[in-house]
Amino acid sequence: MLLKWHNGYFCAMLSVVILGTGNLAQHLAEAFSGVDPVSLVQVFGRDPVQLQWFENHAPTCSKPDDIVEADAYIVAVSDTSILEVSQLLSDKNGVVAHTSGAATMDVLPMANRGVFYPVQTFTKGKSVDFHPIPICIEANLDSGRIILNSLAKSISSKVHPMDSKQRRQLHLAAVFANNFTNHLYGISEEICNRNQIPFDLLMPLIEETAAKIKSLSPTEAQTGPSKRGDQKSMDQHLSLITNNREKEIYTFLSDAIKSKYEKKL
Ligand SMILES: NC(=O)c1ccc[n+]([C@@H]2O[C@H](COP(=O)([O-])OP(=O)(O)OC[C@H]3O[C@@H](n4cnc5c(N)ncnc54)[C@H](OP(=O)(O)O)[C@@H]3O)[C@@H](O)[C@H]2O)c1
Repeated sequence: MLLKWHNGYFCAMLSVVILGTGNLAQHLAEAFSGVDPVSLVQVFGRDPVQLQWFENHAPTCSKPDDIVEADAYIVAVSDTSILEVSQLLSDKNGVVAHTSGAATMDVLPMANRGVFYPVQTFTKGKSVDFHPIPICIEANLDSGRIILNSLAKSISSKVHPMDSKQRRQLHLAAVFANNFTNHLYGISEEICNRNQIPFDLLMPLIEETAAKIKSLSPTEAQTGPSKRGDQKSMDQHLSLITNNREKEIYTFLSDAIKSKYEKKL
């Protein structure tokens, strides 16, 4: 653990190495660079070009032998490469945590292992405020848990201990709430584009749909022709859709909504 001279006394600082140079690695590097109790001591990546972006935040390295000692190693790489990249850390004592919602903690082979999963969607170049983002942490040793907890608390006000079983369910829920919804936004955008309608016209509707479930359950907030059992409108929509895949998605989702609400109609 590093010590830092601060306001007339020494305080403990957590040293951290990030492995990976992708979407999440960039956001974590920015977040850790701005907080006092954390020292981002290195960013490791296999591609020196990708590493250039990180040079303003920390020393960088692309050779596994050059990875330095640290209290924590955050492995922010593609889920399929977590094991391979974590094996570069087999001689390190610090806690090694991956950032995946879907992978179990035990995919990591070391004794001092954990998970540091931020529940948010991250894209390079689109800045986010980490403070309100929940971070789910898990560790198999108390020492690792204390470090990951302090690290998470240094950037977020919402730190949740969560085991791998629950986290995978949370990740599944997140796929429905975010990935699938975003795919549907994409279909909306394509329909607008095909008909020379500005997609922007849907923005207040999209924002209100997300805002109202802060005070209502999504079950209570549902509206639309399929909830109302308005078959005439649904048939009209289907006649407007020329793309077979969009037709299937429209029919599948309408049936799902209809069967959920028809007993209540
Ligand atoms: N993005 C999100 O919204 C989000 C949210 C929560 C959690 N996560 C989790 O965070 C992790 C990273 O996601 P991401 O979105 O940041 O991914 P990403 O943007 O696709 O970046 C993946 C990174 O992994 C590196 N990588 C892959 N295989 C490697 C290997 N064998 N050796 C060294 N580096 C390797 C890639 O390096 P190259 O560029 O050299 O290929 C790249 O830097 C994943 O576990 C994901 O589930 C992501």
